[in-house]
Amino acid sequence: MSEKRSKTVPAEELERQKEYAKQVRELMLLRTRNPVPLAHVHTYGCQGNVADGERIKGMLAQMGFEFTEDPQEADFILYNTCAIREHAEDRVFGNVGALKHIKERHPATILGLCGCMMQQPQAAERIRKSFPYVSLVFGTHVVHRLPELLYRVLTCERRVFERPDGDGVVAEGLPVRRDGVWKAWLPIMYGCNNFCSYCIVPYVRGRERSRTVDAILTEAKEIIAAGYKEITLLGQNVNSYGKDLPEPVSFARLLKSIDALPGDFKIRFMTSHPKDATRELIDVIAESRKISHHLHLPVQSGSNRILKAMNRHYTREQYLQLIDYAKKRIPDLSLTSDIIVGFPGEMREDFEETLSLIQEVRYTSLFTFIFSPRQGTPAAEMEDPVPAKVKSAWFSELLQVQEGIAAQRSAAMVGQVVEVLCEEMGKDGLLSGRTDGNVMIEFSGKPELIGHTVKVNVTRARNWILVGEAVAEAE
Ligand code: SAH
Ligand code: SF4
Ligand code: F3S
Repeated sequence: MSEKRSKTVPAEELERQKEYAKQVRELMLLRTRNPVPLAHVHTYGCQGNVADGERIKGMLAQMGFEFTEDPQEADFILYNTCAIREHAEDRVFGNVGALKHIKERHPATILGLCGCMMQQPQAAERIRKSFPYVSLVFGTHVVHRLPELLYRVLTCERRVFERPDGDGVVAEGLPVRRDGVWKAWLPIMYGCNNFCSYCIVPYVRGRERSRTVDAILTEAKEIIAAGYKEITLLGQNVNSYGKDLPEPVSFARLLKSIDALPGDFKIRFMTSHPKDATRELIDVIAESRKISHHLHLPVQSGSNRILKAMNRHYTREQYLQLIDYAKKRIPDLSLTSDIIVGFPGEMREDFEETLSLIQEVRYTSLFTFIFSPRQGTPAAEMEDPVPAKVKSAWFSELLQVQEGIAAQRSAAMVGQVVEVLCEEMGKDGLLSGRTDGNVMIEFSGKPELIGHTVKVNVTRARNWILVGEAVAEAE
């Protein structure tokens, strides 16, 4: 069967890239105006894109680059873009426009664009026509070929556009330079097969493909050995993990294997698609010590009519049944979700069903978006009679309702002792981190607690942030 064919990039191909990396290293040393070549990599969008950015930085480090936050001094500027909503794209075009003066001042600077937006033909075309000073554009399926692509830019004196279509590949063994100090992203699968009618992701990221359990466990062990305290498993729909492997494995089983690894770390994961989230998954969370009691389960809408038009394959009732089971099984479970307001054809009644659903579930927090038509998706072609002003009013109403729920939930936390991974100390001298349920908390305590899991007494709730004081290091 074709879907069982290996999608893994052959080892010889990665060796070839290492050879290019050596060449780029030499060429960049001659080209740079800095003591060592400097790269500025900026990633937009979701954690999956951030994880790609970490591999891109790993490869750049292999090519001799160090990194700078300041694009003015960089020899190579790369924007790793996102196409999820129009606003995300507008920001990229705006920021690319602003790079022109850097290129004028330092003509040797190489400007590059990659990521989901560049996988869209019309966006790549606009870059080709309107931003001639961008010399490298590559799509999501060729990230592992960055050394070769940079080599071509450096040697051909021509713009390089490499953005093949296709179902996508899995590249193992790429170097990773992680952004986080205590928290690490771990992609377990790539792509998406769901084609929710509003969403561009399946078009720009290819089909679902899973990494093997071995590859994931190897990376998890590296992460733990490097001292990270939290691993977040990533996929657009982690619940369909493993279905495409030659010997299928369920996500619940993968979770159990990671949970069984020795070490002091917590596990999170995202995103779960409600149509594939099972009671077995809830049971694994309930029975594990290392998996956080937090479930991000994007519902998108509370109206069955709209869920159908969105092609989500579950009903409000099925969703609520699963939530009900999860709450019974894990009483301190923290739930979060994504909601789209103003999907084409959404009426006031539909929107009110969303309001009533969030009141019933009582989420810890929500990521809320106004529908943004994406060229090439079915929803972009649907009748959309509701004026933008009405959609914004609904959006504000939704935020207000959720703020009320979050405030009540936070207030109920006061007086409780919660476990927090202490991440950093702010300018105000307060430590901060997130609770197991993924709520931000600031607290007083000694700086030595940074990097440790701490028991914190919650003394106050400030909007959606909790405030407290450290009482002890958790065992
Ligand atoms: N795979 C995840 C979502 C990834 S995109 C899932 O299925 O839940 C993150 C969120 O962006 C989505 O959950 C959705 O709420 C929002 N989103 C995606 N496309 C959108 C669009 N065209 N307009 C507005 N919001 C959108
Ligand atoms: Fe987009 Fe749906 Fe896939 Fe999530 S599951 S990435 S919303 S198509
Ligand atoms: Fe954006 Fe691509 Fe992620 S479109 S949300 S960066 S998968």
